[in-house]
Amino acid sequence: MRLHEKIAVVTGAAGGIGSATARCFAREGAGVILVDIDAEGARRTLNQIEHDGGTGIVVTADLSEEAQVTALFAEVQRRQGALDILVNIAGGDVEPAASVEEIDVERMSRNLDMNLKSCILCCREAVKIMKPRRYGRIVNMSSLVWRGSPAQFTYAASKGGILSFTRSIAMALGSFNITANALAPALVEVDAFVRALGPERWKAMAEATAARYPLGRIATPDDVAKAALFLASDDASFITGQILEISGGARL
Ligand SMILES: NC(=O)c1ccc[n+]([C@@H]2O[C@H](COP(=O)([O-])OP(=O)(O)OC[C@H]3O[C@@H](n4cnc5c(N)ncnc54)[C@H](O)[C@@H]3O)[C@@H](O)[C@H]2O)c1
Repeated sequence: MRLHEKIAVVTGAAGGIGSATARCFAREGAGVILVDIDAEGARRTLNQIEHDGGTGIVVTADLSEEAQVTALFAEVQRRQGALDILVNIAGGDVEPAASVEEIDVERMSRNLDMNLKSCILCCREAVKIMKPRRYGRIVNMSSLVWRGSPAQFTYAASKGGILSFTRSIAMALGSFNITANALAPALVEVDAFVRALGPERWKAMAEATAARYPLGRIATPDDVAKAALFLASDDASFITGQILEISGGARL
């Protein structure tokens, strides 16, 4: 098992990619702290983990609120006394495609808060536990749109910001044996899209997108979970400050 006896915080654990990652880490021996604003969804993931023989706990938090992030990591310190791995997956895009002139300030702020601010705050608090132990693996969720998007303006900005932040903390934390890397998936098949678009629109979009990717399909949540596992494991102990694109060859 590649994460034997490791303690891992996985945020967004109620969602498609976060749930797959939490379950993957538990299968590899980690004790997982499942964090999400959606308590019921996180508990569903924990039930699956326990059904498969793994262990975990659920902590509910709105990660765009500083006080809730501070309380989350205080609880991790109190209950576990250690933290080896942080995977920041919580996020999403609340601004529908619009022209540049139509960028809405309220939705812009939500995009920056739920993606970039939450990631920065979780890293800040996690590092307080990791640094004295001189060990840490941080994996942050960017997106292929870090390269730019003609439709997702503020989401792309938040995901690009996550990449710059990840590189910056990698520079600052290497001497403490803490690595920090980012994941950049292309389109991943998650229920949230099916719910938002409806099955027919989603199917059409997924098929059209898959046809553009050299590997001829879109990603599954497990494709992303396995990349997170690699970066969180000691197989990647000499890799830091990198972005790993999980894209089936899109945008080569
Ligand atoms: N699905 C894709 O195609 C894709 C591609 C690239 C990147 N991503 C990124 O992957 C991550 C996971 O997305 P997903 O596709 O699994 O979507 P999802 O909607 O299934 O999961 C996102 C989860 O984050 C949680 N969350 C959102 N805001 C939160 C907050 N403020 N505090 C706590 N939890 C919060 C949600 O409750 C949800 O469970 C996101 O950061 C997303 O931007 C997704």
